[in-house]
Amino acid sequence: MNLNITNEKYYDELLLVIKLFFSEDEIENLNLDFNVSYTFNNPVLETHFDITGNYNNGDVSINKSFSYSLTKEQINKFDKYTKRFLKIELYNILSSLTNTKLPWGSLTGIRPTKLFYELKKELGSSILAKNELINTFKVSPQKANVAYEVTQNQSKIEINDNLVDLYVNIPFCTSKCYYCSFISAPINKCAEYVEPYITALIKEINAVKNIINKKNYIVKTIYIGGGTPTALSAEQLDRILSELTYPVNEFTVEAGRPDTITKEKLDVLKKHNVTRISINPQTFSNKTLKEIGRAHTSEDIIKAYKLALPYNFSVNMDLIAGLSNESFNTFKKSLLKTLELEPDNITIHTLSVKRTSKLSEGEGTKGETNEVTKMIDFSYKTLLENGYKPYYLYKQKNMVGNLENIGYTKPNKECVFNIDSMEEVATILACGANAISKRFYSLQNRIERNANVKNLADYINRIDEIIRKKEETFK
Ligand SMILES: C[S@@+](CC[C@H](N)C(=O)[O-])C[C@H]1O[C@@H](n2cnc3c(N)ncnc32)[C@H](O)[C@@H]1O
Ligand code: SF4
Repeated sequence: MNLNITNEKYYDELLLVIKLFFSEDEIENLNLDFNVSYTFNNPVLETHFDITGNYNNGDVSINKSFSYSLTKEQINKFDKYTKRFLKIELYNILSSLTNTKLPWGSLTGIRPTKLFYELKKELGSSILAKNELINTFKVSPQKANVAYEVTQNQSKIEINDNLVDLYVNIPFCTSKCYYCSFISAPINKCAEYVEPYITALIKEINAVKNIINKKNYIVKTIYIGGGTPTALSAEQLDRILSELTYPVNEFTVEAGRPDTITKEKLDVLKKHNVTRISINPQTFSNKTLKEIGRAHTSEDIIKAYKLALPYNFSVNMDLIAGLSNESFNTFKKSLLKTLELEPDNITIHTLSVKRTSKLSEGEGTKGETNEVTKMIDFSYKTLLENGYKPYYLYKQKNMVGNLENIGYTKPNKECVFNIDSMEEVATILACGANAISKRFYSLQNRIERNANVKNLADYINRIDEIIRKKEETFK
């Protein structure tokens, strides 16, 4: 395939639209020549698409031009709006060429709700923003409504430059799940790194505490994620949590793998005022759990949940739609089983097959798009019927059916950290390997990022340099 674009800076974005319709292999073998150009005659932007070639055994020759009258505001942000219009037109062309409509239309980003808020600001109301998603961005009415509902349930967003969230990453797990492309490593295979990691991490946490003091920040939430923080021992958890003594209303520790949860560790979490944990089934099918490399059974999930009940933590449970060729009925059973347990939060993910996961090496197959679409639609309807509300939403690359992940909550049980990190409306001070800190400037509605290194050994060896870089971002 050839993709010629007069202005190279839009190449990557247009390729993302092409990737919505074709897999990497298909793109390599695609016999289509794209020529995209535009001219700007203030205030009229003209875009030109010239696509020739052969697709699906048929000759294709498309030559289309579109013009837009840009508003003054759009001219001021010329690149942004040119990119937007080019992407939408390319989507329209490929949609009719392949006779395919995608649930999220021309959107390629991971945060549809951020665009929703932007449109709401531009157009003046949520209803107009929803209509714009449907009419211009070609998002299906159903998904535009999901974005609308999610933003309606985000009233806990509090814009205040002094309030910050604290994130700590523990990149260890008990074993590697086949679908996972996070950096976390099986703890028994990197045992020699665990103690040096904790030492470096505590050093970074202390540097962050200094930043908090100097800037008079107020810590709003704490989130310890991963990986699986509870893959550490009770004593190691105790040491890390002892550093985090801020009086927050929301303190999450992910305890995702039920096989890591013990009474001793739950006691440590309670002692340090943790308020929320996650215990993640992913599925209740023992066959699938085995196939995806999770060393626990569905019975272990229920046991862990019952063990945690007396502690009164808010509990989140993650499920994944599309695992290991599961049928709709298997997914439905998992969802209903999860509902029986009545956790405060349920997060429904769509399987994403990333290049770095074992699945992408052909060790498993993904569920059929139609089946997964049915699962996602069913979970939305069923969770709403059972009193849950969708409150955060994100997409990842390579998701089956180009669908999404949605976090649901019982009334008033939202995890504020999840909203802040998805909508990028608060400063997040993040510690640990691969942790990304974000400094939020509310006046300019701008985020400045600072990413820590991914590699464990690099994180440990370069901790002083990492801390200096972070101090620079928060100067
Ligand atoms: C970073 S993981 C941490 C959770 C925890 N370690 C566990 O597995 O229980 C967060 C969630 O992302 C989801 N996830 C991870 N890899 C995924 C993939 N390839 N596709 C869809 N969801 C995925 C899973 O539901 C997982 O619980
Ligand atoms: S899905 Fe969770 S438990 Fe599994 S390897 Fe990834 S981070 Fe670890």
